Amino acid sequence: MALEVVILAAGKGTRMRSKKPKVLHEVAGKPLLKHVVDTAKSLSAERIHVIYGHEGEQVKSALLDDSINWIEQAKQLGTGHAVLQSLPFLEPANDVLILYADVPLLSKETLAELIHPEKKAELVLLTAELDEPFGLGRIVYHANQIVGIVEEKDASDEQKKIKEINSGVMFTKAKHLAGWLPRLSSNNAQGELYLTDIVDFAVKDGLKVAKHKVDNANEVQGVNDLLQLEEIERAYQLLTIEKLMRQGVTVRDKRRVDIRGELVCGQDVLIDVNTVFEGNVFLAHDVKVGANCLIRNSVIKQGAIIHDNSVIEDSTVGSKAQVGPFARLRPGSFLEECSKVGNFVEMKKTTLGKGSKVSHLSYIGDATVGHSVNIGAGTITCNYDGVNKHKTVIDNGAFIGSGTQLIAPIQVGENATIGAGTTLRKEAPSEALTLTKSQQLTINSWQRKEKS
Ligand code: UD1
Ligand code: MG
Repeated sequence: MALEVVILAAGKGTRMRSKKPKVLHEVAGKPLLKHVVDTAKSLSAERIHVIYGHEGEQVKSALLDDSINWIEQAKQLGTGHAVLQSLPFLEPANDVLILYADVPLLSKETLAELIHPEKKAELVLLTAELDEPFGLGRIVYHANQIVGIVEEKDASDEQKKIKEINSGVMFTKAKHLAGWLPRLSSNNAQGELYLTDIVDFAVKDGLKVAKHKVDNANEVQGVNDLLQLEEIERAYQLLTIEKLMRQGVTVRDKRRVDIRGELVCGQDVLIDVNTVFEGNVFLAHDVKVGANCLIRNSVIKQGAIIHDNSVIEDSTVGSKAQVGPFARLRPGSFLEECSKVGNFVEMKKTTLGKGSKVSHLSYIGDATVGHSVNIGAGTITCNYDGVNKHKTVIDNGAFIGSGTQLIAPIQVGENATIGAGTTLRKEAPSEALTLTKSQQLTINSWQRKEKS
């Protein structure tokens, strides 16, 4: 039997106190709704329906996913009313899994257990045991059988003591929903059509209701305000980082690493504190990342060392290369093996050849640097003439003296030496020394000005 997933995402999210729709707020750099859609996809759902309402266009264009069937709920009249909107689209014989867009940590594994045919029930609820269940729907039993869900606002004092809560996630068949949803009424404390009332209908219809209780209550935690968003972010980060640690990554403090995207690591990788990884990052075997680094969409090859306080974006760092401390690799930097980019160096759209070094205080942009080149402190590629960008080519074995300005387009030949303080405007021939010489003057009679 095919599986259809209905994701409820129409709520306003008033308590977020934000212009942005709640489901577009991010955990680990990814919108809440996208987390849930990705989980649904991992279950090989035949169709995914998203019930949207508030700021629908913004939500749709943020996800840009043609495989989703977007269903509008023009007025938010409750969770039951939300699922009701999906009825015309559901194939009666299909299984239906109902998810909430604001519950991003639910794992594929938990859901796989929830929808497992072994449950042999017509309606399966995902529940959790909470020490502080306040505000949530409680699971009501009679003689060990689930007989209903009661909302906090409708619960008696006795029912409020129940610690087993409704996560909101449910699994049933479309044909049952078609029988139950039109029977919902808003005769309750919030005047809404409660989805939870279908439990009562199932019991009255003599159908079996079962539950799957999660081991880790974190998984079903929902986001209602920015404090909960932060809690969920931390929980997500911890899960992700612990998984890497189990694979053999040494992390100095698992609470001080953030992964906003996908980080893949080889063996014997070391990650120091306050590091942030964004997008797709690959750290090969034996890579070390120092404290306070940000690495975005980059590949760091075997044995490379990223020293403290470095920022690397859309770049490749070759094996055994070294970066930083305080280096910035902007997009398109390609460091070959054993090369070095040192402190206070900014690099952009540049290939730095094998074993070449830019150790201090330089800007190297739009350049191709050969192997075994040494670029002295304070070297600047003047790549921009105010209108266009131009290229600098430095051939193998060249030595660029400190404080050199290379006015692009320009080429420095193989094994050429450029004297310190040179402003290079013409090609520097290979195997020769090129420098701009300006006379040094000393004026003995000169007096410093004094403050009047
Ligand atoms: C709901 C459950 C409660 C459960 C809790 C778990 C009901 C009646 N109650 O309560 O038992 O413990 O979730 O978090 O179902 N939504 C719509 N359209 C609507 C209303 C809501 O799409 O008209 C969506 C929201 O965007 C959200 C989800 O449904 O993703 C839950 O809505 P919310 O208002 O937070 O329900 P709760 O009152 O928290
Ligand atoms: Mg809620």
